[in-house]
Amino acid sequence: MTPLPEGYRPVDVPAARRDELLLVDGWAFPGSPTPEQAKDWPLPLSWDRARGVEAEDGELVAVHASYPFTRFPVPGGRTAVSGLTWVGVHPAHRRRGLLRTMIEEHFTRSLARGEAVSALFAAEPAIYGRFGFGLAAMDLHLTIPRGAALRDVPGSADLRLRIEHLDAERHGPVVAALHGAVDRPGWATRQSAELQAASLHDPDLYREGAESARIAVVERDGVPVGYARFRRKGDWAPAGPRGVVRVRDVVAADPAVAHRLWSVLLDLDLMATVEVGNLPVDDALLRMLVDPRAALPRLGDNIWVRLLDVPAALAARRYAAPVDVVLEVADALLPANTGRWHLVGGPGGATVTATDAPADLALDVRELGAAYLGGVSLAALATAGQVTELTPGSLAPAAVAFGWHQAPVCGWVF
Ligand SMILES: CC(C)(COP(=O)(O)OP(=O)(O)OC[C@H]1O[C@@H](n2cnc3c(N)ncnc32)[C@H](O)[C@@H]1OP(=O)(O)O)[C@@H](O)C(=O)NCCC(=O)NCCS
Repeated sequence: MTPLPEGYRPVDVPAARRDELLLVDGWAFPGSPTPEQAKDWPLPLSWDRARGVEAEDGELVAVHASYPFTRFPVPGGRTAVSGLTWVGVHPAHRRRGLLRTMIEEHFTRSLARGEAVSALFAAEPAIYGRFGFGLAAMDLHLTIPRGAALRDVPGSADLRLRIEHLDAERHGPVVAALHGAVDRPGWATRQSAELQAASLHDPDLYREGAESARIAVVERDGVPVGYARFRRKGDWAPAGPRGVVRVRDVVAADPAVAHRLWSVLLDLDLMATVEVGNLPVDDALLRMLVDPRAALPRLGDNIWVRLLDVPAALAARRYAAPVDVVLEVADALLPANTGRWHLVGGPGGATVTATDAPADLALDVRELGAAYLGGVSLAALATAGQVTELTPGSLAPAAVAFGWHQAPVCGWVF
């Protein structure tokens, strides 16, 4: 591991150092809560996975942590993923290699826990490619005019819907169960009690002038089958009310439920627009809207994926079509991944073995991470010069096999 510069040492960050962690976080991300503001807040961290760097005088000057996503959805299955988070370095100590050492430590610790994959959201997209993370999903953001028409879905109008203040005790179990049941590559769910509690906490600081969090719950025969979390922000203009609905997440068990939720969200009184982000690019809403152009669709970068143990990670997912390919992988940070891997797989599973056979495709581990969730085509990466076809004719079938019928997305930023 690259050693820290002289005077710095890696340390655990236990819950007892919570205030110091919040101070570093506030230096790294201006506007984050101060220790006083967050005194009674539930923090989402799993403390045994929080680490930091101390300067010579004992001041905590850098932190990082990870979330345990033990059932992270990948194409055709679930696997353990280490969700890198809370990465921050005090500005007085930046660009000395603290992040680099923390990333290497994160890799070592994740692998020791049996996590073959890491994932993250990037504060700045230029940071993480150098560490072998590939951008594995884009997400969709919409700004929808109030009253936007939806195509009909039979059964939608018959579903019962309640709109309530979001209440941790009352709604927590419903949110956790419905969110956790979504089976879409990239869809990390909040598995730990800490993450769940933090996600239901609704401090003023995060409302940005809007009301407290609300939830719409849809039931079928008395059983919750979908929910939407949102808040409204009132506003007035000479022409009339101009309120904005900010939708946080929508989870629907089937098309009728999605239609019911959106019918309500798109027609709240005194609102002019509805904002929603972090949707998969194939979200049902885009297909239900009669006029998708009016929703001003735009793309953002979503989740980044890093394969820590290439053979284990490739064997943990399934493939959309039969595939038999030798990949020549380069990995500057984790040399065990460098080499030729023979992948034989399909919709039923896959095996991956080291081989000396000639390679069909050559790529960096970063591109393998980008393609891992099935949303970024190996063929598209090849057009950008990031995958090289060594055996003519091998790229197209491999690209089809690595694809998936659902677009990957993570519905929340971690
Ligand atoms: C981003 C941040 C963690 C970097 O920490 P750092 O200790 O300065 O990073 P390092 O010195 O270890 O830099 C490692 C490499 O990343 C590069 N890098 C660091 N920050 C970068 C940035 N914002 N954009 C592009 N490259 C960056 C460095 O140039 C260096 O490149 P090299 O290895 O090719 O020479 C730190 O600046 C920070 O806390 N920023 C604000 C919060 C943030 O963005 N956190 C990331 C959350 S996802």
